Amino acid sequence: MNNTFDIETHARTFRDKGPDEVLDFAYRNFDSIAISFSGAEDVVLVDMASRINPDLQVFSLDTGRLHIETYRFLEQVRERYNIRLEVLSPDTAQLEKFVSEKGLYSFYKDGHKECCGVRKIVPLRRKLHTVDAWITGQRKDQSPTRANVPVMEADAAFSTAGHTLYKFNPLANWTSEQVWTYIRENGVPYNELHNRGYISIGCEPCTRPVLPNQHERAGRWWWEEATRKECGLHAGNFGNRG
Ligand code: ADX
Ligand code: SF4
Repeated sequence: MNNTFDIETHARTFRDKGPDEVLDFAYRNFDSIAISFSGAEDVVLVDMASRINPDLQVFSLDTGRLHIETYRFLEQVRERYNIRLEVLSPDTAQLEKFVSEKGLYSFYKDGHKECCGVRKIVPLRRKLHTVDAWITGQRKDQSPTRANVPVMEADAAFSTAGHTLYKFNPLANWTSEQVWTYIRENGVPYNELHNRGYISIGCEPCTRPVLPNQHERAGRWWWEEATRKECGLHAGNFGNRG
């Protein structure tokens, strides 16, 4: 990648493109690039990227609170695609202090930000310092906070003064229906929780299945208001975008 990389121009060019083209562009321009894989339907990114670049870097944030089914699924994906899947843990001292002060379920009382901060954001920041770009499974149709997610951007939350970090969201323009059609048509493995009414999957205490016609995010942090349902991984979504 050279210093004249103009992400805004590229974002305009690729604005309406599908995941294949965005992924192909990302891997042509960055060597140090990793997929952030949650263990849910973003598995389509792993499938698509493995066809472009067999030597993928993939990481998952192991909050310590994922469903047992998700842990099993992470291993299934590791074996199926023969990838290096890095499983990142929270900082031990920080997690122990947090849990001893606030217990294991403080998020039901005072919101999920603090727990997500310790269990997801700190390890994510550590990982993102080591790469030039990351790839996420965010989609516009997932939530009102994601309605303007671009296919690529400079990461407003995790770039530092000396290091611009780029963020690719290849599924931005895809709907949930397109993702699931791809999974079925390509025989992509999926988290068995999806067979039980779960659509959006996060940590076990903060995720539940949804009813017919309920929005998928209704199953995440259901005790909090819809506009607050970002955990900080995608903090750029809070700002206004054009
Ligand atoms: S969250 O911010 O509300 O938790 P969501 O579950 O919608 O995110 O996932 C959106 C994208 O964020 C995923 O496709 C993935 O790229 C990233 N992500 C979310 N959770 C994790 C995780 N535990 N490990 C790695 N990446 C994750
Ligand atoms: Fe903690 Fe829930 Fe956030 Fe997981 S989703 S890190 S359990 S608050």
